[in-house]
Amino acid sequence: MTRVLTGIQSSGRQHLGNVLGAIRPAIRKSNDPGTESFLFIADLHSLTTIKDADTRKENIIATAAAWLACGLNTEKTVFYLQSAVPECTELTWYLNCFTPYPMLANAHSFKDKSDRLSDVNAGLFDYPVLMASDIILYDAHVVPVGKDQKQHLEITRDIATKVNMAYNDEIFVIPEASIDENVMTVPGTDGQKMSKSYGNIIDIFLPEKKLRKQVMKIETDSTPMEEPKNPDTCNVFTLYKLLANNEQIAQMRQNYEGGNYGYGHAKQALFELIIEEFKEERAKFDALVEKPEEIFAELAKGADKARVVARETIARVRAAMGY
Ligand code: ADP
Ligand code: TRP
Repeated sequence: MTRVLTGIQSSGRQHLGNVLGAIRPAIRKSNDPGTESFLFIADLHSLTTIKDADTRKENIIATAAAWLACGLNTEKTVFYLQSAVPECTELTWYLNCFTPYPMLANAHSFKDKSDRLSDVNAGLFDYPVLMASDIILYDAHVVPVGKDQKQHLEITRDIATKVNMAYNDEIFVIPEASIDENVMTVPGTDGQKMSKSYGNIIDIFLPEKKLRKQVMKIETDSTPMEEPKNPDTCNVFTLYKLLANNEQIAQMRQNYEGGNYGYGHAKQALFELIIEEFKEERAKFDALVEKPEEIFAELAKGADKARVVARETIARVRAAMGY
C-alpha cells in the first residue's frame, strides 16, 4: 500500500483555481486502488504569518468545508488538523537537531519571505523542518506538491537520511515528491494566474450576488457588442471552456464569432455555468459552515487515526535516540 500525504495551507477561502487545480485532482487520486491518503490542514505553519486566533479558525473552517463539499471521503482519506497531533511538534525538535543551519538559510521560500515580510520570526526559518516532520511522522511514500515546494521535499529527504544514518537504522521512510508538471493554471479575473494574493479570484462558494459580481469583473477588451470577437484571446471563454461540455463550447465559439454577442452575455453564461456545475458543492458548503462543530468532529476523527501512526513513529525515534 502506497501512502500518499499532502498538506494544505489554510490561508483563506478556496477559489476556482484551487478547486480545479488541486482539490478535484487530489480527491480523484485518493480513490486510486493501492493507495492510502493522508491530507491535513497545516494550521501550525499558518501561525508563522497569521497571529489572530479567529482568523485562523475561520480559514480552517472555510478550507475544510471546501474539501468536504467537493467530495472528500473521510472514510478513505485521513483528514485532520496538523495541530491536533502533538507528536508532530515533538518530532520537529528531534529533526531540528539534525538540520544544518545553512540548509535552512538557503531555502528559497525563506529568502523570499524574509525579503517580503516585516515579521521574520524563527518559525518562518524553521518552516521546512516542521514540514519534514509532517511527512516523516506518517511514513509517507509519496508527497504531491506544487513546483514551489520541491526544495522542501529535498530538505525532508536529507534530514530523514541523516537521522537514519546516525542511528544505523531505517527509522524513517524516505519520501518521494510527486510534482505534476501538467497541472492546469486557471486564470483569474485579470488574466494572470488566479491567486488569493493577486485579488483576482472567483470564489465559487460565495452567495450568488457576490459571485456574479466577481464574474462580471473579468477583464475583456473593448470590442463593441455588434462586432465579432475572438474567443481564443478572451479570458471569459478560457474559463468557460474549463467547465463547459463540447457542445456548449462550440455554441459559445459561434456566439463570439457571429457578432451581436457582448462580453456581458458571455459572462452571464459563465456565471450560470458555475452555479450549475457547483450546485451540490455550494449547497454542501453552506450547510457545513453553518455547523462548524461537524467539521471539527470530522477532523477529530481523522486526528485519532493519524495519531495511531504518529505514536508508532515517535516510539521508534525515542528508542533510537535513547529517550
Ligand atoms: P493561492 O495562490 O491562491 O494562495 P495556493 O498557493 O494556496 O493558492 O495553492 C493551493 C493549491 O491550489 C496548490 O496545489 C496550487 O497548485 C493550486 N492552485 C492555486 N492557484 C491555482 C490556479 N490558478 N490554477 C490551478 N491551480 C491552482
Ligand atoms: N508548505 C506547503 C505549501 O505551502 C504546505 C505543507 C505543509 C505541506 N506541510 C506539508 C505540503 C507536508 C506537503 C507535505 O503548500
